[in-house]
Amino acid sequence: MSIDQVLVAGSGAMGSQIAMVAALAGCTVTVYDVDAARVEQARQHLLERMDAQVTKGRRTREAVDAAFQRLTATTSLADAGAVDLVIEAIVERLPAKRELFAELDGLCPARTVFASNSSSFVPSSMATATTRADRFLNLHFFNPALVMPCVEVVRGPDTASPVVEACLAFVERIGKTAVVLDKEIPGFVANRLLGAVRDEALRLLEGGYADVEAIDTAARTALGYPMGPFELMDLTGIDIGYLTKTARFEVTGDAADAPSRTVSALVEQGHLGRKTGRGFYTYGPSGDRTGVTDLADLKGQH
Ligand SMILES: NC(=O)c1ccc[n+]([C@@H]2O[C@H](COP(=O)([O-])OP(=O)(O)OC[C@H]3O[C@@H](n4cnc5c(N)ncnc54)[C@H](O)[C@@H]3O)[C@@H](O)[C@H]2O)c1
Repeated sequence: MSIDQVLVAGSGAMGSQIAMVAALAGCTVTVYDVDAARVEQARQHLLERMDAQVTKGRRTREAVDAAFQRLTATTSLADAGAVDLVIEAIVERLPAKRELFAELDGLCPARTVFASNSSSFVPSSMATATTRADRFLNLHFFNPALVMPCVEVVRGPDTASPVVEACLAFVERIGKTAVVLDKEIPGFVANRLLGAVRDEALRLLEGGYADVEAIDTAARTALGYPMGPFELMDLTGIDIGYLTKTARFEVTGDAADAPSRTVSALVEQGHLGRKTGRGFYTYGPSGDRTGVTDLADLKGQH
């Protein structure tokens, strides 16, 4: 089972870059999106990214031009189904993903493998919308997909081994590093590890053991992390982690899955990190860090 023809559904932040990575590796790629403006925006963004890489000498003009020749876009799913692999990277809403996979199930030949790039929905939650649970898995890329090497290959309960093998060969072909999950679990591996560090950092902070700067400094200088957990939450947006934990808590009812009181207080007061100028730290108009938020004061207001 060889993967040469790929359909990427969704041309947003992830889909556009996944499509480019596959086209650069020699695959024939179609990108499908419901929104023609998003497709055009993605094309412009990719052209600029690739031009910059050619200018810096990281890729040749010939290789980039050949990749763009292999990359086409459509807003009509009907033209796009005859492929070896579908990688779905549309909006993170389960009903939308199930609806798309059900439609693709009717359009694609029996050989087509279905993969979702979802960060939170496990394969079985989507595979049941199709008649091919044995050919369904998650291929979870990291942002930015053009740069980050890891792809989590997540087996559902019914995923057939030859399908996993074919996807491992595909991941290798596109120059990425595969991490196989033998059983599905929400959050997969990397984001669960990240979450565990973040949760422990919040426990240490809320227990009064160390402050934000001390914990971030330990992560950087003792563990070699590029940034501390509070710096990272400020960068990615405190609301993102809050929403992920709230959604998981709604499913499990486990108090350990609920957002921490500090994160909840920051989100309720609109302090979402760098994008609002204040999170665990404060930032000036040009984005430079100006200080540390007084969390005692914050709880007082709460
Ligand atoms: N952003 C990240 O850091 C990240 C990392 C890993 C995985 N993911 C996952 O990737 C997926 C996409 O995330 P994103 O950040 O690229 O989102 P995005 O909002 O940038 O892009 C989503 C795209 O899907 C399109 N779309 C929506 N509904 C559609 C439909 N029914 N059919 C076809 N196209 C449709 C939208 O027009 C949009 O262009 C999500 O499942 C997310 O969990 C995101």
